[in-house]
Amino acid sequence: MELSKKGLWRGVIREFRDFMPAVKEEYITTLLEGNTPLVESFNMKDIFGEIRLLFKFEGLNPTCSFKDRGMTMAVTMARQDGTEAVICASTGNTSASAAAYAARAGMRAYVLIPEGGVALGKVSQAIMHGAVVIEVAATFDELLAIVKEVNLKYPVAIVNSVNPYRIEGQKSGAFEIAEHLGHAPTYHFLPVGNAGNITAYWKGYKEYESNGIIANLPKMMGFQAEGAAPIVLGHPVADPQTLATAIKIGNPASWAAAEKARDESGGVIDAVSDDEIINAYKLVAAREGVFCEPASAASIAGAIKMKEAGVISDGDTVVCTLTGHGLKDPDRAITVSTPPVKAGAEFSDIVKIMGF
Ligand code: F0G
Repeated sequence: MELSKKGLWRGVIREFRDFMPAVKEEYITTLLEGNTPLVESFNMKDIFGEIRLLFKFEGLNPTCSFKDRGMTMAVTMARQDGTEAVICASTGNTSASAAAYAARAGMRAYVLIPEGGVALGKVSQAIMHGAVVIEVAATFDELLAIVKEVNLKYPVAIVNSVNPYRIEGQKSGAFEIAEHLGHAPTYHFLPVGNAGNITAYWKGYKEYESNGIIANLPKMMGFQAEGAAPIVLGHPVADPQTLATAIKIGNPASWAAAEKARDESGGVIDAVSDDEIINAYKLVAAREGVFCEPASAASIAGAIKMKEAGVISDGDTVVCTLTGHGLKDPDRAITVSTPPVKAGAEFSDIVKIMGF
């Protein structure tokens, strides 16, 4: 039998080079991010009927969130520019990714996180990768303002999605979906926090469409958490509240670009409640074997809401981006689940619990 001759995945900068900003080979900083599975849903037909539903599972990136797609590009550029340190404000995933890519590049990373507002797994990543982790009693929005000022005054590259290279890298998610399906989905659902990702996906789809690689464009469907829904409300939220800590953001940096994606595509930016988010989070884990973090499930909660409203229907192809892995936030998983059954080491006790 011959060994398979499949090429090894080279990370999003090299795989999509024609669509990425030019960089010198020697500065490319990659952990071979991207190439994540597009998992077809089989077990939610009672909810979605004959809609073709797929999950782009971004939790399977190197630091277990979609941020790695943009971080490879942002850190590579910072390195090429001769910058020795990066900084970000973060609800957790950006900090984990920045810390890992900075470590890979031999650069310093400073990450500012809102006190008590970041899931445990994410903090552990940033610490393990050697970032200077600064926990502040402030909102993400306040921290982003500080980070922007540091970037203006000191030789430290900002790697939040206000950095345009982040968007360039992240648009690769749309490329992969287009290549997997052979076309764009009818609808693309995703959670909206700082609004970089919806901006990036729309840019990616448009670039593939204008280059003739795909013939259609999706409607972009962004979902915020009800207590952190500035775009839906039409004004910033000073004290955002949601269990989905990753999207606990009251004044998104890419607000205007997200509205443009919505309007150009004929899509929607709407809100879902924490209950709807947790319901979707549990549902996709229990029914499909896909464990995403709570914020990620805002996309599925949004799709359920739009199905109930009759917006999406049989025959549509619907992709939900599941932005981060469930293991990022084990505390939330345990809080919303039935605890393990305690038993003694007796055969009879065990089989009794098993229902035999
Ligand atoms: N889902 C997850 C798991 C996230 O971590 C984020 C953002 C989003 C969705 C929203 O994406 O900001 O592009 O609209 N997390 C950022 C962070 C803010 O700091 O990790 P967005």
